[in-house]
Formats: sequence, structure tokens, C-alpha cells
Amino acid sequence: MCGIVAYIGPREAYPILIKGLKRLEYRGYDSAGVALLNGDLNIYKKKGKVSDLEEATKGKDTHSHLGMGHTRWATHGEPNDKNSHPHVSQSGDIAIIHNGIIENYGTLKEELINRGHEFKSDTDTEVLVHLIEDVQQNTGVALDEAVRLALQEVVGAYAIVIISKNDPTKMIGARKGSPMVVGIGEDGEYFIASDATPIIEYTKNVTYLNDGEIAFIKDGKLSVKTINNVEKTPYIETLEMNLEAIEKGGYEHFMLKEIHEQPRSIYDSLRGRFNPNTGSFAMRSLKEYEGKIKNLNRIIIVGCGTSWHAGLVGEYLFEDIARIPVEVEYASEFRYRNPVINEDDLVIAISQSGETADTLAAIELAKEKGATIFGLCNVVGSSIPRASHAGAYTHAGPEIGVASTKAFTAQVSILTLWAYGFAEIRGKATKEQLRNAFAEMETIPDKVKKALECEAQVIEIARTFSEVHNALYLGRGYGFPVALEGALKLKEISYIHAEGYPAAEMKHGPIALIDENMPVVVIATKGNIYEKVISNIQEVKARKGKIIAIVTEGDTKVRAMADYTIEIPETSEFLEPLVSTIPLQLLSYHVAVNRGCNVDQPRNLAKSVTVE
Ligand code: M6R
Repeated sequence: MCGIVAYIGPREAYPILIKGLKRLEYRGYDSAGVALLNGDLNIYKKKGKVSDLEEATKGKDTHSHLGMGHTRWATHGEPNDKNSHPHVSQSGDIAIIHNGIIENYGTLKEELINRGHEFKSDTDTEVLVHLIEDVQQNTGVALDEAVRLALQEVVGAYAIVIISKNDPTKMIGARKGSPMVVGIGEDGEYFIASDATPIIEYTKNVTYLNDGEIAFIKDGKLSVKTINNVEKTPYIETLEMNLEAIEKGGYEHFMLKEIHEQPRSIYDSLRGRFNPNTGSFAMRSLKEYEGKIKNLNRIIIVGCGTSWHAGLVGEYLFEDIARIPVEVEYASEFRYRNPVINEDDLVIAISQSGETADTLAAIELAKEKGATIFGLCNVVGSSIPRASHAGAYTHAGPEIGVASTKAFTAQVSILTLWAYGFAEIRGKATKEQLRNAFAEMETIPDKVKKALECEAQVIEIARTFSEVHNALYLGRGYGFPVALEGALKLKEISYIHAEGYPAAEMKHGPIALIDENMPVVVIATKGNIYEKVISNIQEVKARKGKIIAIVTEGDTKVRAMADYTIEIPETSEFLEPLVSTIPLQLLSYHVAVNRGCNVDQPRNLAKSVTVE
């Protein structure tokens, strides 16, 4: 939820921190701050964006070779200067940055107040840095040990970095439940960050900390141990990401870049995972879990937001193609509702970030009950794949815009492959069917490219609808999850109230909302229920609603009824969400731009929701 970055080494820390914070700003943008050690501990923090912090530090002393920075998504304490990180201990000598929530901070704070500690902020984080100093003073141990002992008292989730005025060659990082990666650079330099984006420019050698591990960096050396004092050998891996992937590349916004990247990201997600000539798969999850897949009773898909919508498409795919019963659950509901689940169930946890707290908790619950977990994530090395038994990465590349676009189509691509893979294992698909399906899947990147050509037309439509207050999105069958996703995109980045509905459900309530001011976006592509959707369009027209229809290339029937039609290439129903979602992403983007909204960083949202 918050972004953290830290540096120790021969370079100037401040520019690295500021650049890193800008890359992490997608995680939260309520406030930003840095702590820079240079004899003194200089702390600068400011409500607002990293650019506000930069402004505030103009002309100030930022010279340092050891520093850390934080960009905040507020949980405890309103977004203001005093609640911004870094926070310092009672003496002011130790500083902390933190991503996560210290759940027992209330009790700890009370005890510390009784021992004479005074707090300057309303945050849970400040309690932890006071506690560390308290432990150090009461036991006389070194900072390393004080951090370790203090963390033993903490309940909750954290990724923290600690630096101290009294230990100017040391940087300590620790994680539990929130992500942390350590970058190993040149000449004894080290980086710590919430993800690899602030590090990639300087080094590709990284190690991801596991839950309950603490990294100690001192005099150019890294050592890792657990909170329970067990030494660990860090596993150093090479990042595959490149710098271009995390820059805008000439686009005005990351979201637009990511929408346009979809022909490539779908291709990359599918690449090498099937052979269209033989009709065979190259997916470890299918190979290693063949026996499980053959015998499982049910699939439960968990996720949040857009990932949950991808899960709904997955439900249709698995039931249609593999004939396996599927339930799709909001992870946040699943985890608290005592679900019936056992070892014959397979849980598929979908998450772009791989860090969503509710999805992680749902996995833990399902694991406790004996289910097998497949993770479907985009961020390599994130917590959900690590907590899963098996799974697949989506290979969409970094998604930085808060509104998820290319992650959705990549998730749906893999779910489609799995549905066919499961079908083959369970004797529901022949090699010929697989070859045909693969042949069609190979055409999807080009069809998405073609669908993107509707942008000029979408810009015109967006002009007409930018001032509306409400919008309805309708779809049936595979068009229903797409309608939900289209509505979510519009509301999150343009702040227009939008609802996605199964088209036939409209007459059971939402039809009352329709008048001449209501834009109704309908997925009306050719397929099994095309004629039914046409009836639903007529119901809207009879009440003077404005129809924006997504239709199959060459369609004339809907064109005759709709106020606006956007054509997409014809494709089989199973694969249609991958194409029909494109104009909806573009529509929400251009409406939001017309309304002057901050597309990449919509208000109140964060890219990765690592709190409940
Ligand atoms: O990283 P995840 O896929 O687990 O994130 C889930 C949701 O928070 C996310 O999809 C959110 O709804 C997006 N802002 C949607 O665009």
C-alpha cells in the first residue's frame, strides 16, 4: 500500500530515492518523505506527491550516502505532514519507513507511553521505532538485535527499513506480509525497495526477502536471518525486467501505454505455453498437477477487483470447456465466511500484484483446509505465487497505471489455456479441438491490435459522454464479466458512477434508471445470445437511453438501433473477452482525460492493496 526505497553506497542517495519514489508512487500518493544520514539525520516529509516533496527540499541539505524514502497510502492517521514517513524514535536517532499495518500498535503504544515515550504522529509505524529504541535501551543490545526482538512483539504486516544516526554504515530491512526486495549493486552498494522498479536502473541482481526475514547491510555486506535468529543464505536472482518497461515510452499516461501494449502482453503470456501443431501444452502446472486436475471436484477462483472479473471469465471457460464446476469468490468475503472447502478443491488465486492482502488471506485459509492452490500473478517473486503450490505468471510486464488493463487480458489468456489444459486431462477435449483452439488463440494479438484501431472513434464518443453522472454497462454470457470490468474502469478513473449488469437483469431493477441522459454500453457481439441482447437493446431504446454498442465487424442489425457502434474483429465466444474489453478500456481512459482526472493515480486508490 505504501512504497519504500532505501540506498546505501558510494552514490548520492537522494536522487536515487526521489526517482525510486516516483516509480513507487502507484502504491500510494498521500504523502512522501525521505531520511538522509550525513552525520545528522535529515528528514523531509510532505503531504501530497513526490513532486511536492521535491519542491519542499529545494535548497536544503540532501547530501548523503545512506537514506530512505517513503510514499504513503494512509491507513492510520490522516494524510498530513506529521503522519508522513519517515518516523523517528524518542531520541530522534533512529528512523523508520514502513509499508503495512502494526495491528497491536494500540497496546504497544500504551505501554511505551507509560514508560515515558511521547508520540508525534497518529501512525502505527511510529510505535515500532519507539519500541526498537526502548528495547535497545532496556537490554543494551545492538540495533540489529533490538530490531529483531522488537519485531517479535509485533502483530501485523510490515516491510520496514531502519537507519540510525549511531550506526552510519548500516541499513536494516525486514518483512512480514508486505513485499521487499534487496538489490545488490556495485562497490558494496545496496538498495531496498517494495518492488524492483527503483532498483532496475542500477542493478539486476536482487534477492527477495521471505516473510519473517531481516536483512542487515553493514560495511558493504549483506546478511539475512529470521526473526527467530536463524541465519539464512540469500538467494540472488537476476531480474528479467528492463527499464523501458517501467517508463511511459512517449504515451501521455501509463494506462494508455498499457492498453496499447496488449497485443504484445497477450502474446508474451501465451508464448511457449502451447504447440498449435501438436495440440500439446508446455505448462508446469498442468504437468505436475495432472493427477490432481483429473480428480478434483470443484474449482474456486478468488480475487479482487479486476482480477475477480477475470475470475468470472474463468468460471465460464472452465465450465464450458472442461465441464468442471466453478465458484468465483471475492477474496475478502471468502476469507471471513467459513467456506466449505476440502482437499478435492482447487483454488485459483488471481492477482496482478501478487500482494493483495485479502487474496493472500484467502489462500492461507484454503491451504489450511487442504485445498491445492494455483496462483495466477503478474509480479514475479511476489507473495501470492510464493504462497501457492503451483501456478503461472502472466508475463504482461510491469503494470503501473492503477487501473488494471493489460493484466486483465493476460489473466484471461492463461485461464483460457488452463481451461483447455484441464479439459484435455479430464478427457473433455480432443487433440483436434486443442489444435483448433490454439490456432485461434494465435490470432488474438492481431485481433486486439485491430480492436485498438477504434480509438479515434472512441475519442469522439468520449467527448459526448464526458459530462454524464451515471452509466450502465450490459452484457450476457462472456459479455457480462466484460461489462463489469468496463464499468469498474470508468468509475475508478473518471469518478462517474457506473454499473455493470447482466443485460437480462436490467428489467429487474436498473431499467428504472434509464432515460435520455443515460449512456448504456452494451456488449452486442455475434454469439449464442446475440438475438437476446438485441431485445435488451430495444428495451433501452424504448426508454430513450443512449446505446453505445460493441459489435462484431460487419454487423448491421445492432448498428441500425444503436446511437454509436464500435466494431471489433470476429472471434470465438471463448476468446471474445480478450477483444471486447479493449474499446471499454479506451472509453474510460478518454472520458477520464476529458474530465481532467489523474488517470494513472486516481483518488483514494492504490495499485496494490496490501491491507484488509
Ligand atoms: O493486484 P490485484 O490484481 O490483486 O489487485 C486487485 C484489485 O485491487 C485491482 O484489480 C483493482 O480493482 C484495480 N484498480 C482495478 O483496475
